[in-house]
Amino acid sequence: SERDSLYIVSDFASKHFHNRLLHHEQGNIGQSYLKQRGLSAQTIQKFELGYSLDEWTDLTDIALKAGYQQKFLEATGLTIAKEDGKKYDRFRARVMFPIHNLSGRVVGFGARTLKSNDKKSPKYLNSPESDIYHKSSVLYGLFQARQAIRMQDMCYMVEGYLDVLSLHQGGIENVVSSSGTSLTEGQIKLISRYTQNITVLYDGDAAGIKASLRGIDLILENGLNVNVVTFPEGEDPDSYIHKVGDTAFKKYVQEQAQDFISFKTSLYASETKHNPVKKAEAIREIVTSISKIPDSIKRTVFFRSCSLIFDIDEQVLISEYNKMQLQER
Ligand code: UTP
Ligand code: MN
Ligand code: MN
Ligand code: MN
Ligand code: MN
Repeated sequence: SERDSLYIVSDFASKHFHNRLLHHEQGNIGQSYLKQRGLSAQTIQKFELGYSLDEWTDLTDIALKAGYQQKFLEATGLTIAKEDGKKYDRFRARVMFPIHNLSGRVVGFGARTLKSNDKKSPKYLNSPESDIYHKSSVLYGLFQARQAIRMQDMCYMVEGYLDVLSLHQGGIENVVSSSGTSLTEGQIKLISRYTQNITVLYDGDAAGIKASLRGIDLILENGLNVNVVTFPEGEDPDSYIHKVGDTAFKKYVQEQAQDFISFKTSLYASETKHNPVKKAEAIREIVTSISKIPDSIKRTVFFRSCSLIFDIDEQVLISEYNKMQLQER
């Protein structure tokens, strides 16, 4: 079928990029970049990392010569055809991260430029949506992580490809990334096949905090439990594990993991301390998150915890919750 052809051409491309990384002279550029990022040969193998040459049609030419049809190369976004009929490779001079589905088949790619600050092209290019690649229902690293997620009964959620790879290599294998999209319900449903517990490890910057807040509510709405670990400003899980080492990193995430109420409380703590209006806003914010939890027993437990932290009557929180429910109708 058509979909099978897309899987087959994606698999061919993945092997091609991997071979270029390991066996082509330009591949050295990719290899030394990955080495500089701290990734081992074993990690490169396990995640089938690759390199796309700095050429216009390296993949397209070789794939066509090998008998793959242009329409499938185009449908996966690997080849871009211009109106005048000229065609060229989407991915050039980039480190390639193949994205696998749950059966381990390659469905798309993330691709990083090696340039550190090139304003002209994006840092990461991703495959477009196709019949086999639906961004909102794929998680980078889930294929490699799923057994560890089940064993640990917990899944770490990070922002980027490099975060997945560095943690995995550091011995934390239960880690996935929504890579390039904000977390979706479909992705949470995928995780829920393996565990009900997610720990969000987003970047230590404003965008990361914002994404964590959004992620928390979505996770709660879908009935899963969520904890959060924050990183020092400017660090992400990848930079931080290389800064402090594997052992200290594991200790850090274990000690810093907090439930969403503590996370939101500490986020607003400096503002709320001497400002009753801000405090009221923070409480309402937390009650909003609690209201997303479908399970009434869990809700009750969190109302109690919130009432203790803010020293406010539980009944007040519950009546606020009831008001919200009425407004929703
Ligand atoms: P980051 O910029 O935090 O990426 O974006 P990173 O993984 O830390 O990148 P390095 O360490 O500089 O290599 C987080 C994720 O957002 C997506 C990618 O999936 C990236 O891993 N992203 C980012 C894009 O899709 N396009 C971009 O231009 C940037
Ligand atoms: Mn490392
Ligand atoms: Mn970031
Ligand atoms: Mn990052
Ligand atoms: Mn990074």
